[in-house]
Amino acid sequence: MVDCVAVVPSITVEMKACGVLFLQSSTHMSTEIENLWFRPFRQIGEIQVIHVDLTPHEAREQYALEWLDKEELARWQRYLYDRPRREFILCRAVLRYSLCRRLGCENKQLSIVAADHGKPYALVNSQLVPISFNVSHSGYHGLIAFTQGHQRLGVDVEARSRRRDFDGIAEMVFGPNERAEIASENGLAKAHLFFRFWTLKEALVKALGTGLSIDLTAFEIPPDIRHGAGKSTFQFPGLDRTLWELQDLSTNGYAAAIAAEIPHLS
Ligand SMILES: CC(C)(COP(=O)(O)OP(=O)(O)OC[C@H]1O[C@@H](n2cnc3c(N)ncnc32)[C@H](O)[C@@H]1OP(=O)(O)O)[C@@H](O)C(=O)NCCC(=O)NCCS
Repeated sequence: MVDCVAVVPSITVEMKACGVLFLQSSTHMSTEIENLWFRPFRQIGEIQVIHVDLTPHEAREQYALEWLDKEELARWQRYLYDRPRREFILCRAVLRYSLCRRLGCENKQLSIVAADHGKPYALVNSQLVPISFNVSHSGYHGLIAFTQGHQRLGVDVEARSRRRDFDGIAEMVFGPNERAEIASENGLAKAHLFFRFWTLKEALVKALGTGLSIDLTAFEIPPDIRHGAGKSTFQFPGLDRTLWELQDLSTNGYAAAIAAEIPHLS
C-alpha cells in the first residue's frame, strides 16, 4: 500500500465545490487546457465518475503525451487510426493525473499495468494502490470511475449509432429475452435499447475483469433494469455468489452504465 492516501478526501470536496477541477502547481496542467477536458459526471455513493471530453484538440493531445510513460507512448505509436489513438491518450493522461491527485504521488512513481484479461490497475513504487478504477471511451466521450479500496468496478460508454445490424449482433451477445426485446423495437428505439443493454452488459464483464472473453449470451441483464429501472443488482450465473450493483448512466448523447461489486457483509 502507498502511504499517501490522506489527500483523497480533499479531491472529493474540490470536485463537488468547483464542478470542474482546477489544478495545483505540483502536477501542473494548464487550467485553460484542462478546464473543459474532464469534469465530474456522477457521484454514486463512494464512487466518483468523471467525464472526459475526447473531441479532437491538439493542445490537449500534445499535453496528454507528456503524462504517458515509455510503454504507453509505444502503444500510442502503434495505433493506426486517429480516433483510438486520441481516445487512449486523452483518457490515460486524465487517469494518471487523477490517480496522482488522489494518491498524492508523482506521475513518474505511477505505473498502470494490466491483469490477465487486460483490466488495468495502478501501482505506486511497484505497490498496489488502494484505489479502484475503470475506464471507457467511445467517440467523443470517455468515462472514468474511481473508488477507494479494492471494490471491483466496470464502466462502459457507447456513442449510439443507427447504422448497424442490431438484431444480427444481438444474436452473438445477448440472451433470448434480451434479443426478443431488441427485435420488437424499430429505428431509434431499437438503437437505444441495444446500446442500453450493451453498456449494462459490458460494465458487468469489465467489473468482473474478463471483458468479452466470456460468453455474453450465457447471462441476461435483470428484467427490472432492462425495462427501465435506473439500477438493479446482479449475480453471474454459475460463478461465485458476488452481488453486483448495476446502474444505467445514459444521457441523451450516449449510452453508459456502471457495475460495482457489492462488498460482503461479514
Ligand atoms: C475490456 C473490453 C470489453 C473493452 O472493450 P471496448 O468497448 O473496446 O472498450 P472500452 O472503451 O469500454 O474500455 C476500454 C478500457 O477498458 C479497460 N480494460 C481493458 N481490458 C479490460 C478488462 N478485461 N476488464 C475491464 N476493463 C478493461 C482499459 O482501461 C481500456 O482502456 P485503455 O486501454 O485505453 O486504458 C475488451 O477490450 C475485452 O473484452 N478485453 C478482454 C479480452 C481479453 O481477454 N484479452 C486478453 C488480452 S490481454
